[in-house]
Amino acid sequence: MDPIRTAIEYGIRAPNPHDTQAWRCQVISPTEMLFSVDPSRLLPVTDPPARQIHIGCGCFIEILSAGMTQHGYRTEVEYLPQGPYPLEEIGRKPVARIVLRSDRNMQPDPLADQIPTRQTNRRTYTGAMLTEQEIVQVRGQLPDGPAELMAFHQPDTVQPLLDIFYRAMEIEATTPRTSEETRIWFRYSEGQRQTKRDGLSAPQLGIDGLQRVLLERYLRDGDPKRWFSDRSVKGLMKSVHKGVHSARGVLLLKTATNEQIDWLKTGRAYARVQLTLTQLGLVCQPLSQVLQEFPEMKDLQKRFNELVGVDEPAKVQMAVRVGRADRSYVAPRRDPDSLLERDNEEKW
Ligand SMILES: Cc1cc2nc3c(=O)[nH]c(=O)nc-3n(C[C@H](O)[C@H](O)[C@H](O)COP(=O)(O)O)c2cc1C
Repeated sequence: MDPIRTAIEYGIRAPNPHDTQAWRCQVISPTEMLFSVDPSRLLPVTDPPARQIHIGCGCFIEILSAGMTQHGYRTEVEYLPQGPYPLEEIGRKPVARIVLRSDRNMQPDPLADQIPTRQTNRRTYTGAMLTEQEIVQVRGQLPDGPAELMAFHQPDTVQPLLDIFYRAMEIEATTPRTSEETRIWFRYSEGQRQTKRDGLSAPQLGIDGLQRVLLERYLRDGDPKRWFSDRSVKGLMKSVHKGVHSARGVLLLKTATNEQIDWLKTGRAYARVQLTLTQLGLVCQPLSQVLQEFPEMKDLQKRFNELVGVDEPAKVQMAVRVGRADRSYVAPRRDPDSLLERDNEEKW
């Protein structure tokens, strides 16, 4: 099998916003490809600058790169080979040129073993608070700049952050435009999950058993009347409250500037943070709402930035709750072939 094909099979397992898998690959040779955003899989309402989508691309590159070390390949990445691009050109210019180099001396990345078990876990967390030692281990696996780790693990510093994350989720869930974006990407039955193999769903949120059956029946394939009902919003916020406030620590990834290159490199850093947590027996969930660039979030974001001492152009790119929990439903992935450029209408 082509090494580049193996690389794509790794990359597709990466974390990415709403599991839209907004990735496209133009294979140049068995060891080289141009990698870009799939513009048909953006989240324009909650992610207007496509910042998070680019973080997801960075995650793809890191998982691919860590995975390929197990096959004796070093991954060379030329970021934004045609330069940064405006939003209108998203998908028309590449995010990266990726070249795999065979290297006999290649040592497997110590985190590569965690790729199959890594997952986003939205359950209620239990156990001890995140320890100083665990934070040191996470920091030790971060790539060099630009993403800097900020860690909170004392209840009195964690609590105000959690209150903000909860409020941010409430804003997103009660703003019709932003909630609609999740409705579209939600999958309402096992049949839909297995057919579409993307998006979010009740079991991915940690809702199992009878509760899942009843919820999916109630939501009637995303009937807007049911989705936007008080009952749905209250039910969601109750479960968010329980989840968010069970955090045993909070990790933030911050950059000094807020450019496309920062987003891609933050994605690489976040993938390593999550793999390290997995190795340590910890789980995590990003709580991105307060970081998002839609107008209703502006005031709360200002409060959050003040609390964590971040001034523009610096930006917190990822906010993540950390803890311990049982394994969750595994988010599906599409067939890696569907990422290949020839399967897409729009050509380079
Ligand atoms: C940039 C970015 C932002 C994300 N934001 C959130 C979020 O706000 N809430 C959440 O539950 N998951 C969030 N996630 C996690 C994704 O939803 C998750 O990676 C995706 O659904 C695939 O699931 P998996 O990570 O278990 O494979 C985010 C992931 C990325 C890369």
